[in-house]
Amino acid sequence: MMKIGMIGTGTIAPAYMRGLALFEDDVQVVACADLNIERAQAFATDYHLRALSVDDLLADNEVDIVLNLTIPIAHAEVALKTIAAGKHAYAEKPLAIKGADGKKILAAAKAASMRVACAPDTFLGAGGQTARHLIESGAIGRPIAATAFMLSRGPEPWHPNPFFYYQAGGGPMLDMGPYYLTALVNLLGSMRRVAALTARGVTDRVAGHEGVKGQAVPVEVQTHYSGSIEFASGAIATVITSFDIWKHNLPRIEIHGTEGSLSVPDPNTFAGAVRLWQPSSNEWTEIEHTHRSDVQRGIGLVDMARCIEEGKEARASGALAYHVLDAMLAFETSSERGQTIVLDEMDVQPSPLPQNI
Ligand SMILES: NC(=O)c1ccc[n+]([C@@H]2O[C@H](COP(=O)([O-])OP(=O)(O)OC[C@H]3O[C@@H](n4cnc5c(N)ncnc54)[C@H](O)[C@@H]3O)[C@@H](O)[C@H]2O)c1
Repeated sequence: MMKIGMIGTGTIAPAYMRGLALFEDDVQVVACADLNIERAQAFATDYHLRALSVDDLLADNEVDIVLNLTIPIAHAEVALKTIAAGKHAYAEKPLAIKGADGKKILAAAKAASMRVACAPDTFLGAGGQTARHLIESGAIGRPIAATAFMLSRGPEPWHPNPFFYYQAGGGPMLDMGPYYLTALVNLLGSMRRVAALTARGVTDRVAGHEGVKGQAVPVEVQTHYSGSIEFASGAIATVITSFDIWKHNLPRIEIHGTEGSLSVPDPNTFAGAVRLWQPSSNEWTEIEHTHRSDVQRGIGLVDMARCIEEGKEARASGALAYHVLDAMLAFETSSERGQTIVLDEMDVQPSPLPQNI
């Protein structure tokens, strides 16, 4: 049983409490903290936790793993403080907003013999694991091509604090790219090169949530990313992430191989239909899930806790999150320079999750 201290008790925090409650023999959230102390206190009351200051939580003897649910710009600082405090670090995505900070986190964890793992953990859900099983069992032959489309008009109509989505560390790639690129690495292995173009489409944005309704949302980041990723296997993915699109008819993720095609569910969910097309049937067939379909946010943290006990690397590893960050940042660098960007060479495809989790 690993004890968890949560830093950042905002919008996504309740989803973690629900997801972790499914695995109460593995992990237990014992304390929480937030820059906004009243928010932490209210959260602690709702979930019967101890509310602490950030520094007190980091120093707390009961806490084994710090669950960092702060906004992206704070992820690196909180992760480095966590490691310095002698605790394991699990963060919401992205790992950091700069590649150098991502590397610093991995190096600090290695030096301190602490573990780092990072969302997204959706690839550990029934959808991602069933698709992985099909690819490994040869159902589509050798994967040649993939498509990944995350097209939306942005989160400002509904999010209570939409501003960070359009500041450094935000935008559709750093915000949503982790789901799509992590899902692709789970299915296709490590990435090798990125070639991309980016744009800032819609710049007049207005918040819609009650507390901030009518406030202008300044846009300081690119809001449309279009590019290609070449994997070490030779497979090529076509990827678009955008906050500039009202409506579309494109599938979220498809993988196409020498023997068939695979339709993969929304990588921002844990379950969803996995469909297989093979020439012999000449139709899309829904495939029964290989794994339980009720897991939610936090399964990556549960897996990390188990892997620490077993002396293994977590599946949602810091190295995987760094590789994904490297690729996401390469979209922008590629666009700015008009060049194809070669990524740091890494072998980070996580092993499949056992079926009896
Ligand atoms: N909202 C979602 O639907 C959603 C879904 C999946 C992942 N995420 C990710 O979860 C993270 C948090 O998003 P959110 O929507 O909950 O944001 P939020 O703004 O609602 O909550 C973030 C909380 O972190 C606190 N905080 C910020 N910096 C801090 C610091 N340095 N130390 C301590 N507390 C700090 C804020 O006061 C706030 O309460 C982001 O990385 C986001 O990408 C959000």
